[in-house]
Amino acid sequence: MFQSMPLWPPRASTLANNVDALYIFLIVVSALMSFAIFIMVIFFAVRYRRQPGRRAEQIDGSHALEITWSIIPFCVFMVFFGWGARIYFQERKPPQDSAEIYTVAKQWMWKFEHMEGQREINELHVPVGRDVKMIMTSQDVIHSFFVPAFRIKQDVLPGRYTVAWFHPTKAGTYHLFCAEYCGTSHSGMVGSVVVMEPKDYEAWMGGGGTQPLAVTGQQLFAQLGCATCHRQDTQGRGPNLVGIYNKPVLLEDGRTVVADDNYIRESILQPAAKVVNGFKPLMPTFQGQISDEQLNALVAYVKSLSQASGQTGGKSMAAATAQPQM
Ligand code: CUA
Repeated sequence: MFQSMPLWPPRASTLANNVDALYIFLIVVSALMSFAIFIMVIFFAVRYRRQPGRRAEQIDGSHALEITWSIIPFCVFMVFFGWGARIYFQERKPPQDSAEIYTVAKQWMWKFEHMEGQREINELHVPVGRDVKMIMTSQDVIHSFFVPAFRIKQDVLPGRYTVAWFHPTKAGTYHLFCAEYCGTSHSGMVGSVVVMEPKDYEAWMGGGGTQPLAVTGQQLFAQLGCATCHRQDTQGRGPNLVGIYNKPVLLEDGRTVVADDNYIRESILQPAAKVVNGFKPLMPTFQGQISDEQLNALVAYVKSLSQASGQTGGKSMAAATAQPQM
């Protein structure tokens, strides 16, 4: 109906309908309330206007009335809150077996890397019907990953990973924007997400001869000498990294942290920040010595060490598309 003047961006993810439903509910409630207030303002202005010979009556208060007008709005607001919180948690928590895409934002472009090793700039190809988790970082300033058709927006920060996820429901090409002012060409920091039918996606994926991200990471791991201390056979000078991903780690100072993407990243750049219990802070920092892409590859490799043992490591899109459809 609104083909020439769309009120909404296309709805192309599972989140889109939920977000729109809440948005419409908010608009309808606000419109009804505004309407009721306008009607009452006009009604009271006419009904209680100044008339010769009529004196105003003082009312000292009515508990029943005050309680009513507190409880009803409270309940309405709690509906906003409960509904909003439900969508928020859904949007914040990527499903367990999501395919992962490493993203590096920089002035002024988006760089994507699939677990299979395919790299893309300002364009991201994903199949329909797959949970996709974006693991994002910035090389310089704060950017924001915004795909209106999926109803997701997530700040992308330097020095750490942030995560967003979506489940595309419709093939097509959708706008990708940077939604955080990041300098001169901020408005040009746009791209597209191309959602393809699984069959087309496989054909696209089969196109380039690339090596998986985790393999690149493994080569770097050997090249940078990580493997001399982080041994898998006997106990080395550093912790054995097999099976650690997403597992709790006991630290020297008695704290426990979960070995997630951000922990692995931090341990490479600032090894002394959170030393594992029983180890010495011997590891040199790799801050400034490896690029964000290399860092992503190393993180992907460490995660793959957990996948092999049947744990939750980084998932590739191909592993995903091969899974039976529900
Ligand atoms: Cu990047 Cu605005």
